[in-house]
Amino acid sequence: MTSEEKFKKVISHAKEYGFVFPSSEIYDGLSAVYDYGQNGASLKNNIKDYWLKAMVQLNDNIVNIDSAILMHPSIWKASGHVDAFNDPLIDNKDSKKRYRADVLIEDHISKIEKKIDKEVAKAQKKFGENFDKEKYISTNPRVLQYLDKIKLIHNDFSKALDDDDLVSLKKMIEDLEIVCPVSGSKNWTDIKQFNLMFGTKLGASSENAMDLYLRPETAQGIFVNFLNVQKTSRLKIPFGIAQIGKAFRNEIVARQFIFRMREFEQMEMQFFIKPGTQMEWYSKWKETRLKWHLSLGIKAENYRFHDHEKLAHYADAACDIEFKFPFGFKELEGIHSRTDFDLTNHEKFSSKKIKYFDNQTNERYTPYVLETSIGLDRMFLAIFSNSLEEEDLKDGSIRTVLKLPSILAPIKIAILPLIKKDGLPELAKKIFKKLKWDYEVIYDEKDAVGRRYRRQDALGTPFCITVDHQSIEDGTVTIRDRDSMIQERLTIDEVTSKIKSALNIQTWLKA
Ligand code: GAP
Repeated sequence: MTSEEKFKKVISHAKEYGFVFPSSEIYDGLSAVYDYGQNGASLKNNIKDYWLKAMVQLNDNIVNIDSAILMHPSIWKASGHVDAFNDPLIDNKDSKKRYRADVLIEDHISKIEKKIDKEVAKAQKKFGENFDKEKYISTNPRVLQYLDKIKLIHNDFSKALDDDDLVSLKKMIEDLEIVCPVSGSKNWTDIKQFNLMFGTKLGASSENAMDLYLRPETAQGIFVNFLNVQKTSRLKIPFGIAQIGKAFRNEIVARQFIFRMREFEQMEMQFFIKPGTQMEWYSKWKETRLKWHLSLGIKAENYRFHDHEKLAHYADAACDIEFKFPFGFKELEGIHSRTDFDLTNHEKFSSKKIKYFDNQTNERYTPYVLETSIGLDRMFLAIFSNSLEEEDLKDGSIRTVLKLPSILAPIKIAILPLIKKDGLPELAKKIFKKLKWDYEVIYDEKDAVGRRYRRQDALGTPFCITVDHQSIEDGTVTIRDRDSMIQERLTIDEVTSKIKSALNIQTWLKA
């Protein structure tokens, strides 16, 4: 299956099984806006819960807040978003389609990277087990040529972005002979900057209305509450404020399903520290966040760090944790050393003192900030796409299975009476009622049991409990593991303790 086919499967599976629907679908949808269905909403909640447990519940010095989406417009002046939250846009004169100039160049680089992957795959096939990938990449003349090309493009690209040089950026698009994917032509307009914030109005009459923005990041709600939280929590530096909430960006290149949306959710944490200690905390949070991702049992080779060459206006160091999505390695989470930029600017724009007093050293200072920021929807896509598999079974059939980390699965257990008579449904419902106090459980008696197993596999349910005639006689049931499909016969107490240990949050987060 090609990566495009795989990605199409991910999107159609998400819709067919109640995870993600296009928004306003009966009105032909709204571009780059999505709704989460019954299973998607649960999966999302479970991801939030997993993040909150790790970031807030297990850290005595991190608290969680929920600030408003609408905020005073001066906040976005102070944060730099009004002046600098722009994308460089370019139009193709023939197709009239609009693109992000930087994304056109990044896509061009990805195409060269794909050529390298193809060369590697070919060589791997030829040399089999003796293949040394590292050596091949560092010595094969064609691969080296591609790598040199990428390096050159990267250098020019970062320089043009750093210098805000839109003329050079356009020249790069022309020199690289990048064509419009729709018209196939190289007939480009000049590049213009476009602000990504959505504007709205507050107030009843148009004359008195105040221009507002929908927040493009949740972080500013944390900065403007720094003093409130510090005073009421009495936390001492270093400490963190976390928040999960919606953010809005008028993305121009809004594609790749829920990867880049116009309305999305972020899970952010701002860690307030003493100036000068930022590099120490930067390394610590890089390590901590990667460990959190790996605790979910996804292979380490699917993650990589990418250091930012062009730093955002507020940062003195920044990197992304990238994930191998079906369309390649892309940003999943950002870790940014934001200096004292935000607090200092809010102090300036609000004329309120925003300082921290250290009563041990008698020092008063503006804290520095280390930020971890992950897109909830991207995390959803990472987990979901990585979990979807098609397995060839021995009987020649294909099994579609969603191997979600069981701690995140929307339904943890399905209770299935083997048949709909002989007292089996009654006993199954009794077990269902008992287990639903602790877990998300469903009861299903429709269709043959094999079909019911397949349906649960496709939903990502890690355990199926089947009640059969022997259950009536001796109180045992079978428990089927989604991934291995192995069934074990156990007493209800044994089943409960097996599930309890499999879903023990401590075991997961300590991994
Ligand atoms: N407060 C810092 C900040 O917002 P960012 O790198 O712009 O930094 C952080 O965004 C994370 O939010 C990204 O790593 C990504 O996971 C997610 N994100 C950003 N834009 C997004 C979009 N349009 N759709 C979905 N997720 C997005």
